Amino acid sequence: FAPKPLAGRKVLVTAGPTYEAIDPVRGITNLSSGKMGFAIARAAREAGADATLVAGPVHLPTPRGVHRVNVQSARDMLAAVEQHVQDAAVFIATAAVADWRPAAPAAHKIKKDGSGQPRTLDCVENPDILAAVAQSPRALGGDLFCVGFAAESHDLLAQATAKRARKQVALLVGNIGPATFGQDDNALLLVDSRGHRELPRASKRVLARQLMAEIATRLPALRS
Ligand code: C5P
Repeated sequence: FAPKPLAGRKVLVTAGPTYEAIDPVRGITNLSSGKMGFAIARAAREAGADATLVAGPVHLPTPRGVHRVNVQSARDMLAAVEQHVQDAAVFIATAAVADWRPAAPAAHKIKKDGSGQPRTLDCVENPDILAAVAQSPRALGGDLFCVGFAAESHDLLAQATAKRARKQVALLVGNIGPATFGQDDNALLLVDSRGHRELPRASKRVLARQLMAEIATRLPALRS
């Protein structure tokens, strides 16, 4: 008999990179593999949740029983999240969202002009999906538990604590270095209002289960 601490709850997860078009054949993206977010969606489902995964472009199979929505850009991801977050109890932002997008993507492939001169690319800032959700009335009212991630190269505890306050999320999870892009294991630092604790190095699947268990203990009891 497996305990189902998240039965009756909806959990929404973002995962992977985003892709911001420069022209029809090029874009800005990053090396996020999506593995941590996919493992979290799987663990949420295993814990009994109704799990929805909003995934940027990654090459990973959909975990069994998880509802997957594929997106490309940060703005697509925000729209999908806004659509699916309405009745969620937990929002976990693991996606490595591109901070900028080209201001005016070209309709046709941009050609070399042969001048040898540097080219510039005008970019604008993307929306911060996690900050937007964390400032929504349901999150501020305590009906939506928001979790953010941080990948920092130094001073992880100080940076994760500051990021938790800046994004106004209940729980901030730091990836304990070195960079874990594409790897199957990780170590996590959990920072909440009471302090911090470490989940030591383990497979992303094991860490995802531990993280979901931690989140389940922080949720208000279901009203019956
Ligand atoms: O500010 P920074 O990008 O370091 O914050 C990382 C956290 O914020 C992650 O949880 C990430 O998924 C989320 N994020 C987001 N939308 C952005 C940028 C980051 O949801 N545009």
